[in-house]
Amino acid sequence: ASPSHPDIERVLWTEDDILGRVAELASQISLDFEGGSPPLVVVGVATGAFLFLADIVKRISLPLRVDFVRVESYGSGTESNGAPRISSDLKLDVEGSRVLVVEDIVDTGHTLSALIAHLRSKGAVSVSVCTFLDKPARRKVRLELVGEGKFYRGFECPDCFVVGYGMDFNELYRNLPYVGVLKPKLYS
Ligand code: PRP
Ligand code: MN
Ligand code: MG
Repeated sequence: ASPSHPDIERVLWTEDDILGRVAELASQISLDFEGGSPPLVVVGVATGAFLFLADIVKRISLPLRVDFVRVESYGSGTESNGAPRISSDLKLDVEGSRVLVVEDIVDTGHTLSALIAHLRSKGAVSVSVCTFLDKPARRKVRLELVGEGKFYRGFECPDCFVVGYGMDFNELYRNLPYVGVLKPKLYS
């Protein structure tokens, strides 16, 4: 695919690729969570997950509630330092609920690891994760799901700097409807 933004070196997944995969994930999740109780709470991790969350919940054919958290890392600007904190907490009570966390990307794993521990402490009976991208080459911490929690991922991401479809560099590019590799001259 040819890049449609001058700062993008190449497109990894087009809007069609993305929506096709999102539909597959949503069908799988609809099957896996079928059967009513306890209620399903879908938790998006702001800001990066906002587009993926919107696209996937529209295609999940089950009753569910939607909420957001914000998780902030301290330390160097580009990489989390392993001690993220929940800087904006849930509005909903998840005690006794099945929780599905929706993320745009798992990199080191610190963000999700902290969030899963937080949801466990709030009494979620299961915590599953659905991440649009998974970058296993950069993983520093193994994700421990809660209860019968499952792990879903849209695509495995190569170890390069990707933006678009919610993902940013300095808060820009989140609105691109595709995922692309940022030209290295922009961040090096
Ligand atoms: C990014 C991304 C994930 C997290 C992954 O969020 O959206 O939430 O980093 O990194 P990790 O696996 O190494 O923890 P960021 O903290 O940049 O905030 P944002 O979603 O507002 O961009
Ligand atoms: Mn994020
Ligand atoms: Mg970011």
